[in-house]
Amino acid sequence: MAIREIRLKDDEILTKKCKVVKNFDEKLHILLDDMYETMKSKDGVGLAAPQVGILKRAVVIDVSDVTEEGGRIELINPEIVETSGEQTGSEGCLSVPGVFGEVTRPNKVTVKAQDRNGKWFKLTGEGLLARAICHEVEHLDGHLFLEHVTKFID
Ligand code: NI
Repeated sequence: MAIREIRLKDDEILTKKCKVVKNFDEKLHILLDDMYETMKSKDGVGLAAPQVGILKRAVVIDVSDVTEEGGRIELINPEIVETSGEQTGSEGCLSVPGVFGEVTRPNKVTVKAQDRNGKWFKLTGEGLLARAICHEVEHLDGHLFLEHVTKFID
């Protein structure tokens, strides 16, 4: 595994729409492993492939240091299929270091995605996991959480 460079806010790669992953091969597995290591090295809870300069629909999430939920989660070609409720809380992004803002998200989210071998599955998350899923999936369409901030937090 290797730590990759995280692209920061003004990098235009973060504004692009990512491509559907079609090859569930060693190259994808290395990318996912590197993304996980990179995320952990920065104490992040989620990272999307464009944040390391790769325009593919792949996301890693791990909120287990903060909540009871989860462990290592990989979402390939994710699609949010159901949302409910609402939560408002602090959100940040490894591509926007040091900036936190209040963002309202659904409290519960069900996502359909493929695993690293291409097998489809569904996952439902609440609270921070739901927030992380929404945040990371948006990266794949070139959006940053800053678009949703209602109030910046000092
Ligand atoms: Ni982010």
